[in-house]
Amino acid sequence: MSRLILALDVYERGKALEIAECTADYLWAVKVNWPLIIGSGLGILTELKQVTGLPIIADLKLADIPNTNRLIARKVFEAGADYIIAHGFTGEDSVKAVMELGKTIIVVEMSHPGAKEFIQPATDKLIKMVNELEPFGIIAPATRPERVGYIRSKLKPGIKVITPGVGAQGGKAKDVLKAGADYVIVGRTIYQSENPRESARSIFEELEVV
Ligand code: XMP
Repeated sequence: MSRLILALDVYERGKALEIAECTADYLWAVKVNWPLIIGSGLGILTELKQVTGLPIIADLKLADIPNTNRLIARKVFEAGADYIIAHGFTGEDSVKAVMELGKTIIVVEMSHPGAKEFIQPATDKLIKMVNELEPFGIIAPATRPERVGYIRSKLKPGIKVITPGVGAQGGKAKDVLKAGADYVIVGRTIYQSENPRESARSIFEELEVV
């Protein structure tokens, strides 16, 4: 099974469906973020699932009070999302509100430079909460394989480690898998390439040999 997740951060419905369809052979799942939902509407979740037959991850990074997280998550799961990404820093009650409705992935550290300011100092506490709640998985930064290794070492076995930041943000797929990631998320390197299928195939093959 593939360990590659496509981050499909385009606005247009047609373009999204075309890229998803031509890369699907090399993916485990398709991740949809706000750009595509704003550009094409929530219906794109089901359309992507029909076209690819793959799980759909809604990367909303939910970060609200429990009631609002619940109101949003309910509609997004109903629309076809198989997983929702939520922030953990809002606390256990907000995270549980999403987990009660479906499979959830919690951000414990982010891949961009600014993540060092506020999120990284809180990572240990976020890992502790995650180990108690046992969501499907967590998000860790592919841009810092040493942090992926550290987070993996502190996590309960079975909780999946999912890592964005490969390619455009500088992370290397092989390094992050060796550090303990279960899946890598790749966006621009695939959807902005001249040949998205070929780009997806090449990353897929790189991941196979680790
Ligand atoms: P690129 O184009 O950089 O896209 O390959 C990466 C995708 O992943 C999202 N992203 C993150 N999501 N925590 C997250 O939950 C992170 O640290 C993080 N870094 C990147 C990004 O929004 C895009 O969809």
